[in-house]
Amino acid sequence: MATLNPIDLSGLNDERLASYVRAQIAEACEKNGFFQVINHGVPVELMDRLKQVGRKFFDLTKDEKLAYAGKPVIGSEGYGSRMVLDETEPKFWREFVELHTLPLSERHYNYWPQQPAEFRETVEKYTAALLDLPQRLLAVISESLGLKPSYLKEALGEPHQNIVFQCYPPCPEPGKTLGLPAHSDVVAITILMQEGDGLEVAAENDTWELVPNHPNAFVVNLADQIEIITNGRYKSANHRAIVNNDRTRRSYVTFYHPAKDQKIFPAPELVDEKVGPVYRELFYIEYLQALAAERFGGKRLVQSFAIDNPLVS
Ligand code: OGA
Ligand code: NI
Repeated sequence: MATLNPIDLSGLNDERLASYVRAQIAEACEKNGFFQVINHGVPVELMDRLKQVGRKFFDLTKDEKLAYAGKPVIGSEGYGSRMVLDETEPKFWREFVELHTLPLSERHYNYWPQQPAEFRETVEKYTAALLDLPQRLLAVISESLGLKPSYLKEALGEPHQNIVFQCYPPCPEPGKTLGLPAHSDVVAITILMQEGDGLEVAAENDTWELVPNHPNAFVVNLADQIEIITNGRYKSANHRAIVNNDRTRRSYVTFYHPAKDQKIFPAPELVDEKVGPVYRELFYIEYLQALAAERFGGKRLVQSFAIDNPLVS
């Protein structure tokens, strides 16, 4: 699909090309909020180093990895694994390490692997480099909606960031499970680096479209808080990870969250006077609590924050 061809962000620095690049991003946001970017400003060498420390960590023995085990709840930190091949729902086939990186006060280094030795320094450098990209994209996305460039960044408040290292080992029966079940991300915007194919985004008629692995590209997706702030104009797309039976696939996912005490609400400029807002105002912490309580009964979580408005379908 054409929109998953990487968008070359170097064009943003060239006035003759910038409007074309901005239009490509706007088109992807209108369509499903999923796109890939190249020449994004993050050094390829740093991307490679992060993949290396990820690989080295997952190659440790189970006992070594369990030294960093987190509690098995959403929003927790540390190492975990979940492999489901029976009838249990939801399906998972993955190992992961989740770490909070921003604000600095939320770094809990006891969960940060000490092997390989360069793990901590590499993650610190990588995640520091992964702040400017989402903020540049938020500016382009704001403008594409007729908002001032700083609108979304300001609406999200002090950036909170976490990183999840995902590892999907080969599975003897890949058709019976999923690496990660279908979900939309609860955050504002997600920047994902993948090694190997396996990420799929929801497409028309209940089908799934593979997001092809492009070396050195990032996959970007809009998440639930952007859907709320844009009053549903831009959607946070469902996606999932599938597994295969012959190779390990890994991905490195950096999430850009609002501050927990940030009030999130539809931008007044995007609310139709007659129809009113589609989503209610909330503090982001409420959203995280709703996620932990999973009170959404099969619907997308964002729908439980929708206003029951007869004029909105
Ligand atoms: C996620 C996610 C997909 C992948 O971590 O939220 O959607 O390919 N990951 O790992
Ligand atoms: Ni996701």
